[in-house]
Amino acid sequence: MIRVVEGDAGDIAAMMTIMHDAFDPRYGEAWTAAQCLSSLVMPDCELLLAKDSDTICGFAMSRWVLDHQELLMIGVARRLQSHGIGKLLLSETIHRAGRAGRTKIFLEVRDGNNAHGFYLKSGFISIGRRKNYYKNAEGISPDAITMLLEL
Ligand SMILES: CC(C)(COP(=O)(O)OP(=O)(O)OC[C@H]1O[C@@H](n2cnc3c(N)ncnc32)[C@H](O)[C@@H]1OP(=O)(O)O)[C@@H](O)C(=O)NCCC(=O)NCCS
Repeated sequence: MIRVVEGDAGDIAAMMTIMHDAFDPRYGEAWTAAQCLSSLVMPDCELLLAKDSDTICGFAMSRWVLDHQELLMIGVARRLQSHGIGKLLLSETIHRAGRAGRTKIFLEVRDGNNAHGFYLKSGFISIGRRKNYYKNAEGISPDAITMLLEL
């Protein structure tokens, strides 16, 4: 059974394994270990892990300022995608944000990423667009869509 638990900077190696597996390297969305670590050492950052027994199969990382939370990254091991694990991680992120008194959750998703549909299904709405936000290996710079969930 999959359970969602809190993680920390000590889980970075397992998290990076999922990161490299989940994200298509063509689009330049994945973060480096150094980028993740610089967020994870801050007190206003939360890492949630989806675990199957002791094996980490997904993660969600977010941070907050006052009552606004931002989902920074979410990823599920490729072979386990579309089995409800992303939904578990996102629901727990939303639940904890609400419990902590946050009123809005923001995120950015690459225009064209299937995850846009996943977020819409979870109640997020698209509120803006950042032109050429991502840089991919082929020199193409897709836009980011900014999304919001009001709690
Ligand atoms: C995005 C991601 C985290 C979703 O996790 P997942 O475990 O595959 O998704 P789930 O199986 O939990 O799906 C949850 C719901 O979203 C829906 N959904 C998933 N992908 C969807 C899509 N492309 N379009 C519409 N709905 C979608 C599912 O049908 C499901 O709906 P239901 O609750 O009605 O059954 C995962 O696919 C992933 O790791 N993608 C690669 C990394 C990435 O792009 N992350 C997001 C950018 S930060």
